[in-house]
Amino acid sequence: MMWLALTSILTSNNKGRQMNRSKCSSAAMAFAMALLAMAMTLRAESAEPMALQGVMQQLGRDMQTVTGAIATEDWGTVAELAPRIGGHPEPPIKEKLRILSWIGSDATKFRGFDVEVHDAATAMKEAAIHGDGRAVIRAFSRVQLSCLGCHENFRQPFIDHFYGQR
Ligand code: HEC
Repeated sequence: MMWLALTSILTSNNKGRQMNRSKCSSAAMAFAMALLAMAMTLRAESAEPMALQGVMQQLGRDMQTVTGAIATEDWGTVAELAPRIGGHPEPPIKEKLRILSWIGSDATKFRGFDVEVHDAATAMKEAAIHGDGRAVIRAFSRVQLSCLGCHENFRQPFIDHFYGQR
């Protein structure tokens, strides 16, 4: 069907009186690019987002809020948000099993980064309660390094596996 559309565009371009060869081929090129973009969108839409992605988006927002709170030395907000970061929700059991069966023997390493996030966020909360800005920032950096550690090791393989072609 797409090829039919492509052919008819090309034919109508050929019929066009002022349409020279290069205009015609650049129109064909633009059309081909549009097709490619469409195909990529379709493929992206065909893979359902994992529940983990929503959890991650919330973590990202909470970390941004903490950054803002640190900038204004609003330790109350940091103390309030830290437990939400450390104790973020987990994906439903079915998805957890899918992730575990994919990750296999790396499960301990994967889980380890999450434990680090939890421990660093707990330290961040304690520091915030004591109004110790420097300790908050040290703990914040540990949280962020744990996010990064897991992303460096697992994010792309995760995306390839769960959203790539099946
Ligand atoms: C144990 C591993 C792990 C830890 C720890 C982790 N992430 Fe992620 N994160 C992932 C994976 C896997 C993805 C890809 C999920 C997907 O695309 O479905 C991801 C994706 C994301 C995304 C992108 C979401 C999107 O819309 O594509 C954000 C933002 C994010 N993480 C933030 C964080 C923050 C902030 C932390 C630390 C507080 C963190 N993550 C800790 C594994 C982790």
